[in-house]
Amino acid sequence: MSQDNELIEAARAAAKSAYAPYSDFAVGAALRFADGAIVTGSNVENASYGLSLCAETVAAAKALAEGRRGGLVALAVAGPGEAPLTPCGRCRQVLNELAALGGTDPLVLCCGAGEVREVRLSALLPQAFGPDSLGTG
Ligand code: THU
Repeated sequence: MSQDNELIEAARAAAKSAYAPYSDFAVGAALRFADGAIVTGSNVENASYGLSLCAETVAAAKALAEGRRGGLVALAVAGPGEAPLTPCGRCRQVLNELAALGGTDPLVLCCGAGEVREVRLSALLPQAFGPDSLGTG
């Protein structure tokens, strides 16, 4: 499959809306769903630094709040640096929740200024703890 350039551009565009006055590190994320829809997010920082939200977490929360429960087939994350940005540990867990709901293993497009690195979410978060791990379903 050819690279999802529309998704990458959506992530880069989303970074322009980042609220990142403290780190000055603007990140954008774009989630691709099986129905073709794209849901974006950007990082949202806070004067109480530790409360800041990453772009991927904002995008996943938006998708869930819109009623999406799975269908996550790919996502792109774009940072301001040269090197491809890989999602932080917390975001891997947050993304896993949405992916697990639909039983998908999304392709993660990690974007820098030039190079795009492709990796499956399951490779970023092996042996994940997810909805099924609670054993209550
Ligand atoms: N950030 C993200 O939005 N996504 C990541 O995966 C890594 C880090 C944000 C958090 C913070 O606002 C800024 O980048 C610097 O860490």
